[in-house]
Amino acid sequence: MKHFISMQQLSKETMNQILKEAESIRKSPKTMNKQLFAANLFFEPSTRTKMSFEVAQKKLGLEMLDLHTEASSLVKGESLYDTAKTFEAIGADVLVVRHPSDYWIDEIEEAGGLRIPVINAGSGKEEHPTQCMLDLLTMYQEFGNVEGRKVVIAGDIQHSRVARSNALALEKLGAKVYLSAAPGFEDNSLYYPYITMDEAVEIADVVMLLRIQHERHIHKAETSDYLTLYGLTMERAAKMKKHAIIMHPAPINRGVEIDTKLVESKQSRIFKQMENGVYVRMAILIHVLKEWGIIHENEINERKTLNII
Ligand code: CP
Repeated sequence: MKHFISMQQLSKETMNQILKEAESIRKSPKTMNKQLFAANLFFEPSTRTKMSFEVAQKKLGLEMLDLHTEASSLVKGESLYDTAKTFEAIGADVLVVRHPSDYWIDEIEEAGGLRIPVINAGSGKEEHPTQCMLDLLTMYQEFGNVEGRKVVIAGDIQHSRVARSNALALEKLGAKVYLSAAPGFEDNSLYYPYITMDEAVEIADVVMLLRIQHERHIHKAETSDYLTLYGLTMERAAKMKKHAIIMHPAPINRGVEIDTKLVESKQSRIFKQMENGVYVRMAILIHVLKEWGIIHENEINERKTLNII
């Protein structure tokens, strides 16, 4: 039984199974007829991931425990491990954790581990697997699958957990991964070809933009010429293939990595990605709870929607 931590650990089969479940949930919502508790431990700010996990949990009928870090015993010096163990002790069935450390799961495992599953909602600049799964769902909805598709991940690669998770998963699924970065934003531990944004728009089926992660920079990056030099301008977007799509995990720095007019353009799937976040996170919660034997297929039902007459 594994925690849901990294795209590296997921087989192609498991990814496809979760994507299939997410697409099925999109068409026909599900809920659980068992009282279970999900604890959300966010040690970094979040809008999309935290809120879509909350919507996913509410739709599934899970009771939510929301840790407010600033009002918790973390301020008295309690460790991540002791905080996680506390949730386990009081009856949480699954933990959702976002933390600035790249390897916080190792800290938990080395301290003794947990008897409940943990889902990674973002670990430092290392991985963001649930974001990656919603990105994959968006590409699958567009193209059927990603095999042979050219995906250019462009932006602040060095500080991006989204880039790492997506590159690993896309390669495993047979896509051709390219990177594009301003000088100094490259990550040489990722062995994919680097191309310019001018080259990217000519070849890409997917242009996946990333924001500059100012919070992880030692010196604030200069952004005044960034859009013109390295971003997706209107002129560059006009050269994209007709079927190609624009993606971005958000939050977006409008006018920096992308011209603001492109954010809600015909080729953009940015808000679609956010919607898909709910279905994918529902599917991941079901996947881990089933894997750990906490819920069984016969305890998951179709969710009846209210008919208003
Ligand atoms: N994409 C993403 O992780 O957004 P949040 O930081 O708002 O959760």
